[in-house]
Amino acid sequence: MGQLAGKRIIIGVTGGIAAYKAAEWIRALRREEAEVQVVQTAAAARFITPLTLAALSGHRVYEDIFSPEEAELIPHINLARQCDLLLIAPATAQTIAKLAHGQADNLLTAIALATRAPVLICPAMNSNMYLHPATQANLESLRQYGCIIAPPVAGAMACGDEGPGRLPDWRTVREYIATALTPQDLQGIHFLITAGPTYEDIDPVRFIGNRSSGKMGYALAGAARQRGATVTLISGPSPLPDPPAITTIRVRSAREMAKFVHQEAPNAQIIIKAAAVADYSPLTTDSHKIKKGTASLELKLTANEDILKSLGESRGENTLPLLVGFAAESRDHLAHGLKKLKAKNLDLIVINDIGGSESAFANDNNQVIIINRQGKKIELPRLSKEETAHRLLDQLLPILPSP
Ligand code: CTP
Repeated sequence: MGQLAGKRIIIGVTGGIAAYKAAEWIRALRREEAEVQVVQTAAAARFITPLTLAALSGHRVYEDIFSPEEAELIPHINLARQCDLLLIAPATAQTIAKLAHGQADNLLTAIALATRAPVLICPAMNSNMYLHPATQANLESLRQYGCIIAPPVAGAMACGDEGPGRLPDWRTVREYIATALTPQDLQGIHFLITAGPTYEDIDPVRFIGNRSSGKMGYALAGAARQRGATVTLISGPSPLPDPPAITTIRVRSAREMAKFVHQEAPNAQIIIKAAAVADYSPLTTDSHKIKKGTASLELKLTANEDILKSLGESRGENTLPLLVGFAAESRDHLAHGLKKLKAKNLDLIVINDIGGSESAFANDNNQVIIINRQGKKIELPRLSKEETAHRLLDQLLPILPSP
């Protein structure tokens, strides 16, 4: 199960050209097993039909506050009560103005007033309309009332103008949704997280690398941020894009990673080292491509700094920063993991099985065993990396410093 599974989300669609994108978002939410209920304004129905949105959401679409069907159920109050999140996308200047002034002249604006669930507003409109002081003042009022605003992105608009006014991409909005649905129990805590492999250059074309994708470290960074933490991510070469609202530092080699970890460590209360750092790198890096021709070739390697071990040693008897390591093991998992926990002076070690077809590498799922300082063992089931990340963060809650 993912983060959004089982969450009851009302998506309020208003009358803008971006209404068709709401259709894609409904599909994305349902793929994650969220329960989606669509409420449309009359203007929205001119851009996208209720039939389309009903088929995609799997439920009838509500439009009319005075609908004779189910009138006894008082739709605006019942829908408002039954949702975990009200997402308004696209939100036009008109709907934003109504919401900012507490008007409730249609079903959607009435639900927005009546609900106690978080309200996430995604404005989308012509950039002049968006930048107009009236719209900006209305959005500011909505922020003051506790609404979350996912600002539009800049780009070419359907009307030919350029500027801010386009809906953000799904990845970004999904982060806003997950954050709005997640308790902010890590607010005020600064995390330093490393992710991905390191590449140790042999010559300008070749390097020693490993199969880490960075997915687990990025999932941890995203999960901590969703829970309100400030996150710095130091990533080795990974195809994943920089996660939203996270300071991401890209590095290549183990030596570079060590440099940035030591630079950033004094700001962090928790350091999680999910990166698969190379233990050795070539003694020298050739500035030209090494030519073939010899029957054999010897590559001399030199040991890299064990970054986590250095952090554990410099922390000594202090409790901070909390240190979490990953142990990539293909056999004797528990014994090796426990040994690393002690040798590196860690608070938690997360043991990953990297052998076989269910290997953690590059997979979207993971199955880990967590061991804490007292030797307590927590075996997690096979879960998405995002869910695994949240379960791991849960284990940190009892030992967190107060913000
Ligand atoms: N680690 C590190 N610096 C290194 C090597 C590893 O900081 N040069 C960290 C990893 O990020 C991970 C933990 O140490 O959190 C364990 O890494 P792992 O590769 O499982 O073990 P090693 O300590 O390298 O030992 P071995 O390769 O012999 O299993």
